Amino acid sequence: MARRHRTCRRAAAERLLAGLQERLPNQAILVGARPACWSGDWATRPWPAKEWRPARLRGAPSPTLHGCAQRGDEPGMRVVVTGGAGFIGSHLVDALVERGDQVLVVDDLSTGRRENVNPLAVFRRLDVRSPEAAAAIREWSPEVLCHHAAMASVSRSVREPLLDADVNVVGGLRMLEVARETGARFIFASTGGALYGDAAVLPTPETEPAWPVSPYGVAKLALEHYLYCYRAQHGLGYLALRYANVYGPRQDPHGEAGVVAIFCRRLLSGEQPVINGDGLQTRDYVFVGDVVRANLAAIESAACGHVNIGTGRQCDVNTLLRLVAERVGVEAVEVHGPPRPGDQRTSALDASRARSLLGWEPLVPLEQGLEETVAWFRDHPS
Ligand SMILES: NC(=O)c1ccc[n+]([C@@H]2O[C@H](COP(=O)([O-])OP(=O)(O)OC[C@H]3O[C@@H](n4cnc5c(N)ncnc54)[C@H](O)[C@@H]3O)[C@@H](O)[C@H]2O)c1
Repeated sequence: MARRHRTCRRAAAERLLAGLQERLPNQAILVGARPACWSGDWATRPWPAKEWRPARLRGAPSPTLHGCAQRGDEPGMRVVVTGGAGFIGSHLVDALVERGDQVLVVDDLSTGRRENVNPLAVFRRLDVRSPEAAAAIREWSPEVLCHHAAMASVSRSVREPLLDADVNVVGGLRMLEVARETGARFIFASTGGALYGDAAVLPTPETEPAWPVSPYGVAKLALEHYLYCYRAQHGLGYLALRYANVYGPRQDPHGEAGVVAIFCRRLLSGEQPVINGDGLQTRDYVFVGDVVRANLAAIESAACGHVNIGTGRQCDVNTLLRLVAERVGVEAVEVHGPPRPGDQRTSALDASRARSLLGWEPLVPLEQGLEETVAWFRDHPS
């Protein structure tokens, strides 16, 4: 029904556009192209080129990991989650399945795990850069495409910038093309910290300049620019969520990132974690359940552009170690290694825009989120 209505609206818009082109043959008519994302009155109203359904989530937001929203009697949506076997994507898939959506997961399992994927979702092991992935998504005909698949390691992006660009820019662009073809709304897992670097303003709002110093940050920003361009050229509906440091159950403790997961795993197995540098570098740690709620709000919203998703609070690494150790029940001993070259000194995101546009705010305090995370790692020792 909603789809038919959308098709009628699109046909009417196309007729209007054809009429305008006939009357103004020498003018380029840019539908829906208003630089709202970059300007002061940022996306407070939906652009006319793309219709979007009104917000319709049911029930009060909950801080729990899944079951963040219920649909009531309404039929579910058709959603694609790329990277749905990974840490954040798999929690999002759980929440979507729980509220009654039909979910297709596209993931090549390069860092994700098959067992993370909700059994009620359809899983396709495919690389987002491949034509097969595009075909599978086209066939699914999604209303929303949540793009979480990425080469998500900053340090690896420094070592392998070409691979980073291939997965994060070219792969992202391929997903954008499918969204354009299918008319799906695009929700993009972007980054905050890696975009702003050591910003002059803390917590950092979206109005601060983004000059990333890692290939990973450059690739995320490039895709945000492509999104903006696709909005102008094709009327694509999108929202880029600039995450702070996300932590929680299922995060990979074996990679170089994900300090909470690394501390949990090491302390629970009686090993000594090593802090890079003096440990006074700060980060903004946001719980994965809060990030899932931000995605659900983004799916239901008509807003377009980019928003920070963080708590606005800084926590230094030494304090983080103490907080994790308390929950594990061991004494925190600080052992410091050399600092990582180019490591950012401070980071915290101002999420006021997400609050006003999406009604989103973080609900899980760091202490509570760490409690849940430590408990999960205790129950999942491998
Ligand atoms: N974790 C954070 O703190 C954080 C912060 C900012 C942004 N992000 C972004 O959020 C998203 C999810 O991050 P995460 O922490 O869950 O990472 P993750 O590594 O757990 O998840 C990424 C998923 O993408 C899949 N993938 C990678 N390359 C692929 C490809 N070419 N084709 C198909 N699938 C592919 C992986 O197998 C994995 O399941 C990423 O886009 C990441 O850049 C994460």
